[in-house]
Amino acid sequence: MTQTDLTQTELAAAPLHIIDLIRKKRDGGALDARETGFLASGAADGSIPLEQLSAWLMAAWLNGLSLDETRALTIAMRDSGVKFSPARLGKVAVDKHSTGGVGDKTSFLIAPLAAACGVAVPMISGRALGHTGGTLDKLESIPGLRTALTLEEFEAVLVKCGASIVSQTPALVPADRVLYALRDRTGTVESPGLICASILSKKLAAGLDALVLDVKTGSGAFLRKPEDSEYLAALMVATAEAAGTRTVALLTDMGQPLGHAAGNWIEIVESVELLRGQRPAESEDLRELSLILAGWMIHLGGQAATPEAGYARAEAAIADGSAMRAFFAMIEAQGGDLKVFDDPKGFHKPGATQVVAAWESGYISEMDTTALGWAVQRLGAGREKAGEPVDPHAGIEFHARRGAHIEKGQPFATLYATNASMLAEPIAFLKKAITFSQTPPPAVPLVSRIFTRKAAEEYLRNANR
Ligand code: URA
Repeated sequence: MTQTDLTQTELAAAPLHIIDLIRKKRDGGALDARETGFLASGAADGSIPLEQLSAWLMAAWLNGLSLDETRALTIAMRDSGVKFSPARLGKVAVDKHSTGGVGDKTSFLIAPLAAACGVAVPMISGRALGHTGGTLDKLESIPGLRTALTLEEFEAVLVKCGASIVSQTPALVPADRVLYALRDRTGTVESPGLICASILSKKLAAGLDALVLDVKTGSGAFLRKPEDSEYLAALMVATAEAAGTRTVALLTDMGQPLGHAAGNWIEIVESVELLRGQRPAESEDLRELSLILAGWMIHLGGQAATPEAGYARAEAAIADGSAMRAFFAMIEAQGGDLKVFDDPKGFHKPGATQVVAAWESGYISEMDTTALGWAVQRLGAGREKAGEPVDPHAGIEFHARRGAHIEKGQPFATLYATNASMLAEPIAFLKKAITFSQTPPPAVPLVSRIFTRKAAEEYLRNANR
C-alpha cells in the first residue's frame, strides 16, 4: 500500500519516516506542521541521523521553503526546547535582532534606551562566527560580566533592570543548535526560509510580544544582494506576525562599519560615550540608527503612539541619564565591574597598536565592509572556530568615514592587535578594502525601507520566488 491509498485520518496518524520527508523536499514538495515538528524534534533529540538531516537541508536549500512551510518550521523549532516566559515581568517584552554587521553595537544602546522608557528587553544572543562581531564577546570584554545566566537569573536581571543580554542556553531551541551547525558544514546557510526559521525560532522562544528586525544591506551584509535582504526582511516579518509577535523590519546600510569602532572593548567605549550624551561626528550614524530602532521598540512596546514619538522618548532618555543608568544597572547585575568606566580609554590595553595613514588622497567612495570585518577578526577580536578565545582589546578605530575627503599621510585608522606579528595581514586587507575617488560618492540612506506586516505581506504576494 502506498501513502496515496490511505485515508486522511489514517495519514494523520501514520508514523513519519525521515526518508519520506527527504524525498518530498527533493521533489519540490512542502512539509506540513506535523512533518516539520517531526524533523525539529528529531534534530533536537538526535533521533534523526545527521546525514539525513543534511540531505533534507540540501533539498531545502535547492528547492526553497514555501511561506507556510517556513512558518511551520519556525514554530516547530521554537517549540523544540524550553522557552522563556516574560509574563512575570509585568511589561511588554520587545527585542531587536540584527542580521549582523561590522561595528554593529546598537544592542548596547537600544537595550538600555528601551528599558529606560518602560519596555522589557529580554535579549538572548548567539555567538558569532565569520566577519561580523559577536555581541556577547563585546559585552564580556567588561571584567567580571557574565552572559551565561540561567533563565531564573535572566528573569531576575530583567525584573531589576528592564534589560538583560545573555547567551543562548543549551536547552533553548536545541533543534537550531544542531541544524545551524550542520548548515555551516554543508553549505546550506544562505537559504531565506532556513535563515528565517533559525533566527525567529530563537527570538520567539524568548516569548516576545514584539520584535524589531535590523536587516543589513551593502558590502558588509550577511546577504550581499539587496533583493535577498529585502526578501528575508519581508519573510521574517510575515512569519513572526503569523506566529503572534508584532514585528517590523528596517533595511539598513552596512556599506561601511557602523560608528567608528569595530572590535570588542572599543565598541563598548563608543556605546557608553553616546549613552553619556557625547556626540562625536564619526558616531552619528550609530546614534541615529540606535534611536530609530529604539523608537520602534518603544512604540511597539506601547510606550509611544508612533515610532517618531518613541525616538523622541529615547533621545530624552539619553539627555536625562536614565539610559546610562539602565545600562550600568544591567552590567552590575550581570557581575560586571563598573570601575572600568571611570577611565574607559585607560582600561584599553592592546598588545600592539599601529596607526595606518591614508595611502592615497581623495574621497573614500567605497568600503568592502566584509573585508574590514575579517581584518578585525584577524587582529584577534573574532574567532575562526567555535570555542576559540577572543582578545577584548583587539579591533580597529576608523578616523574617516565613507564620503570623507582624506589627504595621503593623514591617519585613516588605528589597529589594535594581540601582538605585533598579527598586524600585517589586517593592514593588507584594509588597503584592499578601500576605494578612493576624486568626486564625492552619492549619499546612502541609513534606512532604505521599512516592512510592517502589511508591507511585508504585499511584498511577498508580488515576490517572484
Ligand atoms: N543567524 C542565525 O541565527 N541563523 C541563521 O541561519 C543565519 C544567521
